[in-house]
Amino acid sequence: MTRLLVLIMGAMATVIFALVILVILPKSMLSSMQAPPELKEPTAQQLAGRQLYISNGCIYCHTQQVRDPSFTADISKGLGTRPSVPEDYVHDNPHLLGTMRTGPDLFNVGSRLPDRNWQLLHLYQPRALVPWSIMPAFPFLFRHKAEAEPGDKVLDVPKPHAPADGVVVVTEEAEALVAYLLSLKHDYPAPNDPLKPANDNPENDNPEEAQP
Ligand code: HEC
Repeated sequence: MTRLLVLIMGAMATVIFALVILVILPKSMLSSMQAPPELKEPTAQQLAGRQLYISNGCIYCHTQQVRDPSFTADISKGLGTRPSVPEDYVHDNPHLLGTMRTGPDLFNVGSRLPDRNWQLLHLYQPRALVPWSIMPAFPFLFRHKAEAEPGDKVLDVPKPHAPADGVVVVTEEAEALVAYLLSLKHDYPAPNDPLKPANDNPENDNPEEAQP
């Protein structure tokens, strides 16, 4: 009987310890986090685009995190100007950090590729812009019509990717997804720049030597 009691007490202590370390402590540390002033609240259109990013599985091939130059070449590859910090994700619920980089990291894609028409055409058919691309096309975010009606935004699709007849019209969904992609810009200074201590360390001051 006493052994059973010890077992139950031990199990309860383990659960309580895990709860404090994994849930309560991180929650209290993160709840006081302030959004950097340059990080704008997402608009309704950008939030709709974010939802499409989730539902179309973009996260399976794209990350949204720039890693520290002491152990990766993310910054020298041009994925950002500094590593991402927790404050960058204050408006993200759920966050879309991702784990796979079949395609490039998108944390700063709005600064890297700010052309709206490039983004729209790339979604319609990635291979119209990047011939070797293995990214799937998302033509269902556009409408194929015999001819444009007043108010339609027609996408300029080059041959041989253009349909044989008619026009490709941009839908609200495609606009929203591109608005979301263009909002991904985190090139303002970080509240606590993780690069500062890394650069003070003589072992880390050459990011070019970091492994990819
Ligand atoms: C099967 C993997 C895969 C999926 C799913 C995928 N992508 Fe990609 N993506 C890639 C690859 C590979 C590239 C690099 C080649 C290119 O630019 O097309 C890329 C490139 C991009 C780029 C250009 C980034 C740059 O820096 O050149 C953007 C923007 C992008 N993807 C957005 C999206 C969005 C939005 C979705 C979801 C609707 C998505 N991707 C889904 C694989 C994927």
